[in-house]
Amino acid sequence: MPLVPLRDLLDRSAPTAAFNVIQIEHAEAIAAAADETGAPVVLQISENAVRYHGSLAPISRAALAIAASAVSPVAVHLDHATSEDLIREAVDLGFGSVMFDGSALGHDENVARTAAVVRRCHGRDVSVEAELGEIGGKNGVHEPGARTDPDEAARYVEATGVDALAVAVGSSHAMLTRTATLDFDLIARLKAAVPVPLVLHGSSGVADEHLAAAVRAGMRKINIATQLNKFFTAAIRAGLGDDPVLVDPRRYLGAGREAMTTEVARLIRVLEGR
Ligand code: G3H
Ligand code: ZN
Repeated sequence: MPLVPLRDLLDRSAPTAAFNVIQIEHAEAIAAAADETGAPVVLQISENAVRYHGSLAPISRAALAIAASAVSPVAVHLDHATSEDLIREAVDLGFGSVMFDGSALGHDENVARTAAVVRRCHGRDVSVEAELGEIGGKNGVHEPGARTDPDEAARYVEATGVDALAVAVGSSHAMLTRTATLDFDLIARLKAAVPVPLVLHGSSGVADEHLAAAVRAGMRKINIATQLNKFFTAAIRAGLGDDPVLVDPRRYLGAGREAMTTEVARLIRVLEGR
């Protein structure tokens, strides 16, 4: 049961764990953890990762191929895209879902451009996640940040036709400490008001017990990136030591990939309450 659309995962009652892919080792580690736990996962590639590589196709083709050969269901998703051209390219490559991030735009422009993306993507059977209420940390600054208003979120979903909504509830991107304070009451009010699955971004900054509580309160897709890179890099650092004859990247990248698999599997179990 290999590559599946995100829609199939969000239809389940269990939460959907989504992990960011920067290098091929990320995709291999995440798919291995999915197979180890028997849980579905999302491999997501952000516009920032595309900027790093200089193009979308090579890393995407690797992720799509890894998804296709996994035993667990795996979706491939474009994360935080601000460019409609990049979204078109992802759809052509075979992504089952994309995120259009219009959160930095004015409200009317966010609605208009998101709705246009939704129309085009739905025509290709691709689902769309959007963001309302800018989730902090994208500029490296961690502040209490914006909050998404439930009534405004309901109107936004109605006006745009999006399939999933990223909401600002207290998390912040790229935190190295897991100290974010989530507003669980707001999550519950958003769940009651919004008819599509809610997405938690910046989940690396959220402690295990708060991730589980966020799922119980109503978050359905949990995006995690930095936490994996912490484990990946720590294992590489430890593996490299100061050995001057260690030059084969497979030795240290392999250690990083293994550490990432262990952490992804552990996070999946936390989210699923196992
Ligand atoms: O879209 C991706 C995420 O929101 C990941 O954020 O690096 O703070 O876990 P994070
Ligand atoms: Zn995010």
